[in-house]
Amino acid sequence: MIEKMNELKSKLNEEIKNISSTRELEDLRVKYFGKKGYVTEISSHMKDLSNDEKREFGMQLNSLRNDLEVLFYEKKNILIDKELRETLEKEKIDITLPADNNDVGTLHPLTRITNEIEELFVSMGYDVVSGPEIERDLYNFELLNLPKGHPARDAQDSFYITEEMLLRTHTSPVQARTMIANQEKTPIRIICPGAVYRRDEDDRTHSHKFHQIEGLVIDENISMSDLKGTLELAMKHLFGEERELRFRPSFFPFTEPSVEVDVSCFKCGGEGCAICKGTGWIEILGSGLVHPNVLKNCGYDPKKYSGFAFGFGPERIAMLKYGISDIRSFYTNDLRFLNTFNRMDGEN
Ligand code: PHE
Repeated sequence: MIEKMNELKSKLNEEIKNISSTRELEDLRVKYFGKKGYVTEISSHMKDLSNDEKREFGMQLNSLRNDLEVLFYEKKNILIDKELRETLEKEKIDITLPADNNDVGTLHPLTRITNEIEELFVSMGYDVVSGPEIERDLYNFELLNLPKGHPARDAQDSFYITEEMLLRTHTSPVQARTMIANQEKTPIRIICPGAVYRRDEDDRTHSHKFHQIEGLVIDENISMSDLKGTLELAMKHLFGEERELRFRPSFFPFTEPSVEVDVSCFKCGGEGCAICKGTGWIEILGSGLVHPNVLKNCGYDPKKYSGFAFGFGPERIAMLKYGISDIRSFYTNDLRFLNTFNRMDGEN
């Protein structure tokens, strides 16, 4: 019997050499340890032995089991290791392949400029207010000291929808709406961003639809110096601390006095270059002190209250800041144009 056991051990030693996968090894294990396996077959002889022999036989059998199991385990570990290496090799990922390009959205340059201006004015206590783009003649012109037949209406060639309704030509009607809506006639500090429309031929510098950001402050004792200080702060914020402002007398029906504001060129610092057309100055916005007629029309007593108003053009600011030469690029949604602003994330 002992002999048989030794034979079995060397048989397994031989057979196991030819095994090359864990599956084959499992089949082999069944051949030895399964219900009809060699080991089971040998142990079945136990019943024919005397008690003493049984003890001896049992010990031998256990030791055989142990030896065989060790052989199996050793082989199994080697095979698992080999198969793992094969799988890793087979499923290797080539990390040098170029990745798919993930398109990430970015803020439109006009949104960027508008946000920047809004944030600045909100930090100074202004409210952001909006109004309708289809506007009544009353708010767009009449209340703003532009009665019917006023020659200055021609400067804002309008899209009329009916005799009384038009696409607003500027954001100033939101001034009138806000003043009228404020029943208590308390001080006002607002900015109003939004789209405006004029019957212009579209070209590199004109668009029938563009944007304005209107500013309005109404309080007691508001003067030109308040306007000047506010605009100086805004311009330095947008174009750099070293910028200077220049006020030129101008005319708007809704402000008196009216001023056109220039900022010293941020490109050449005032020397003269292509951006400022050699003058050292860039025309940037219209503003002035709110005309007493406008205050009156909107229910504010001009003897008690005064105010200032200004109108930014975000397109113009974006074109200057980002070197954009065609205003139409803002509206044609050409991804090649919009994608150039990805690079500006995190910048002002
Ligand atoms: N609404 C004026 C325009 O569109 C700009 C402006 C606003 C001027 C406020 C003065 C004060 O031309």
